[in-house]
Amino acid sequence: MNHVFIHTPVLLAEVLAVLRPRDGARYFDGTCGGAGHSAAIMEASGPTGFLSACDQDPAAIRAATERLAPFAGRSELRQMNFAEAASWVAPGSCAGALLDLGVSSPQLDVAERGFSFQNDGPLDMRMASDRGATAADVVNGWGEEELGRLFWENGERDARRIVRAIGRERAMRRFETTGQLAACVERTCPRAGRKAHPATKVFQAVRIAVNGEVEALHKGLAGVTGMLAPGGVLAVITFHSGEDRIVKDFMRSEARDYDLPPGEPDLPHLRIPRPPRATLITRRPILPTDAETSANPRARSAQLRAMARL
Ligand SMILES: C[S@@+](CC[C@H](N)C(=O)[O-])C[C@H]1O[C@@H](n2cnc3c(N)ncnc32)[C@H](O)[C@@H]1O
Repeated sequence: MNHVFIHTPVLLAEVLAVLRPRDGARYFDGTCGGAGHSAAIMEASGPTGFLSACDQDPAAIRAATERLAPFAGRSELRQMNFAEAASWVAPGSCAGALLDLGVSSPQLDVAERGFSFQNDGPLDMRMASDRGATAADVVNGWGEEELGRLFWENGERDARRIVRAIGRERAMRRFETTGQLAACVERTCPRAGRKAHPATKVFQAVRIAVNGEVEALHKGLAGVTGMLAPGGVLAVITFHSGEDRIVKDFMRSEARDYDLPPGEPDLPHLRIPRPPRATLITRRPILPTDAETSANPRARSAQLRAMARL
């Protein structure tokens, strides 16, 4: 089924302020979605700016193709995971790159995509909707210990109780729908006193696992940084603390003037000197204004960090 793709780009003015698109330069958008940010980058980069953009969701690529039609001669789009994009975009070729992580509004709002505990749909959650394991495969197929660790690592303090309840229920019938999973979590951890829906963290954790988001982010940050020319800017928008920590640690380590042996703590005598590879543009993340979050509540957890390659 085709749905209209409506997604309001978050922190748009702030992204443009750090990327400062200019004429004749090339930009990369690794999460183009409906191309809200991409189109703004194209408009700001003058008549000869060039954009390479990807998204792993075929519905996003269809929407972005339409949105970027006015820039067809100077933009290229691919359905691709940004973790693989270094094999597409030449090293050192870009003046700026953007990763706007997480899900788009249409992914959340279209029940059949299976991301939402508010709209009942099949337990799917794949951004790359044409390939890979679904949320049902994770919820029905993972061992209880593995599932418990996934929920706990994503901040769900009732992970154990929830996993036991899932175990009891799936012994009787498979989990097939988002409503079934949300109801199981809600029965186990009733709403009382919680601000968010009790299934928020469980849904987020399953989505992260289904889409391999942690692995993609680690690989993507390194790959996308390699696409930048000297002075080129990497801007990353995150939506939860786990994601933000990965981006913060990556940017700080690029800006340091030393390496550490793998797995070692940061102790002065372990440091291996090397020149810094980047400078931080944001020491602390840039957050949306109150005006933005009241106009677009989905912006409320957004955080923008940026660095410039040396
Ligand atoms: C928050 S939306 C981006 C919205 C976009 N900036 C706009 O203005 O419309 C996030 C998008 O990133 C995509 N995405 C998330 N992780 C990805 C990955 N590893 N590779 C490619 N696309 C990814 C999702 O499919 C989704 O369309």
